[in-house]
Amino acid sequence: MIRKYNAADHIQSTLEDQKTKEQWYDWCHVWINGTGILNNWKWPDIEGLHDFKGPKMHSASWDHGIDLDNKVIGVIGNGSTAVQIVPQLQKIAKQVQCYIRSSTWISPPFGGGALAQVQKGADVDPGHRQYEFTAEDKRKFKEDPKFHLNFRKGIEAEINGLFGMYRQGSELSDQFRKVITDEMNRRMGPDHQELKDFIIPTWAPGCRRISPGDGYLEALVQPNVEPIMKGIDRVTPDGILTKDGVEHKMDVLVCATGFKVAFRPAFNVINGDGVSLNEDWGDSVNLYMGVSAPRFPNFYTIVGPGATWSNGTLLPSIETTIEYSVKMMQKISKEHIKAIEVSQEALDDIYAHFDEFHKNTVWKEECRSWFKDGKVKSKSPIDTDKSTLANFFLDRIYVYQSPFTS
Ligand SMILES: Cc1cc2nc3c(=O)[nH]c(=O)nc-3n(C[C@H](O)[C@H](O)[C@H](O)COP(=O)(O)OP(=O)(O)OC[C@H]3O[C@@H](n4cnc5c(N)ncnc54)[C@H](O)[C@@H]3O)c2cc1C
Ligand SMILES: NC(=O)c1ccc[n+]([C@@H]2O[C@H](COP(=O)([O-])OP(=O)(O)OC[C@H]3O[C@@H](n4cnc5c(N)ncnc54)[C@H](OP(=O)(O)O)[C@@H]3O)[C@@H](O)[C@H]2O)c1
Repeated sequence: MIRKYNAADHIQSTLEDQKTKEQWYDWCHVWINGTGILNNWKWPDIEGLHDFKGPKMHSASWDHGIDLDNKVIGVIGNGSTAVQIVPQLQKIAKQVQCYIRSSTWISPPFGGGALAQVQKGADVDPGHRQYEFTAEDKRKFKEDPKFHLNFRKGIEAEINGLFGMYRQGSELSDQFRKVITDEMNRRMGPDHQELKDFIIPTWAPGCRRISPGDGYLEALVQPNVEPIMKGIDRVTPDGILTKDGVEHKMDVLVCATGFKVAFRPAFNVINGDGVSLNEDWGDSVNLYMGVSAPRFPNFYTIVGPGATWSNGTLLPSIETTIEYSVKMMQKISKEHIKAIEVSQEALDDIYAHFDEFHKNTVWKEECRSWFKDGKVKSKSPIDTDKSTLANFFLDRIYVYQSPFTS
């Protein structure tokens, strides 16, 4: 998608059908980029990957035609996606080989307190807390919007209440580390010391996205699961050769290896001066609160870099950004404004604030994360100007609306 930009008049767009390559033109007064941050999946950069002769798939491009029953399956990664896939594969596979490159925090479930309201004291193993809402729960939510609202608020409040954890060395960070460490050890059971030593991080919780990982740790210690932490040397036609010289043979290879994160739009954006966003930004990101870019009027990004990527749930941030964009459109429309943009001065101020704020946050620590563009340690981990840290935990106020009220 390519677009030309002349907001003093209107925004001209050149659109392209990605399959047929057919192009056409259109125009608008306001452009909203809602293309997401985590949907452009990529194969991992591993030598020999495409030499593997069995079926292989990426987690974001699942091939339901591949028979997984009683197969030997290799899963690369231990991000939020792998931790959801492995427990399910463990149930059906002959063997699951889990290729784990880094440590990760697997937390107790979030929102457990609020959930207790609907679970009605049912005794649920904390490591398997996936709760399926019953028809009765759904009826209650529908008939009692206040209860539903409070339930939702309870979950959000529990997650937002952990905010202090993101400060390095804070009481909450230390408490959380202890709680999760104990819980991870408990969930892996006795023994498995090599796995425990490898997988429990030294860096603080929150540096990389925390995952509740329902059933993940329990799966890793099952007899048909082999955590492999020696590092991948290369993929062979039959499996994976690890750095200790062992070739692990498998039938199917699953890459739960993440995405090319959208630090900038996938399409070209050109402003009224003929300058593209890529030229204007250079190697950096220049986006006020992940939403608005100076010199690019009437252009809004939904949770771009600088937005609240580290939030427990992204949906309220998405809603808030959309509400903001709608308010701007109403203003533009009602006040007959042709073009409105954020000033560079305002952006510099907020970036200076981010940098100050981030000086002692957990994101400074040495974990590899897509929050930090896949880097363990960046030039300056708190550097907002180099897109190395693209998240900011914002205190938000927003209106909850029940889908069941008119
Ligand atoms: C496996 C996985 C699980 C997740 N689970 C959760 C969760 O439980 N809770 C949560 O809050 N968040 C979760 N997320 C984060 C999730 O990305 C967001 O919450 C949510 O999907 C973002 O919505 P979005 O509309 O901004 O982007 P998306 O859902 O990614 O939608 C973007 C849309 O834009 C389209 N698009 C992209 N580029 C172009 C282009 N150039 N031209 C035209 N169209 C384009 C895409 O095809 C897609 O339809 C998860 C992410 C992943 C990858
Ligand atoms: N329910 C949910 O809320 C949910 C579920 C799934 C995903 N998500 C969202 O999607 C995001 C992405 O999750 P994801 O798990 O798909 O991706 P990810 O967090 O980027 O994790 C990718 C994993 O693949 C590993 N990896 C990548 N390249 C590798 C290589 N060359 N060799 C070995 N290992 C390699 C990484 O190892 P390293 O750790 O060493 O980098 C990491 O373990 C999450 O952070 C979350 O925001 C949310």
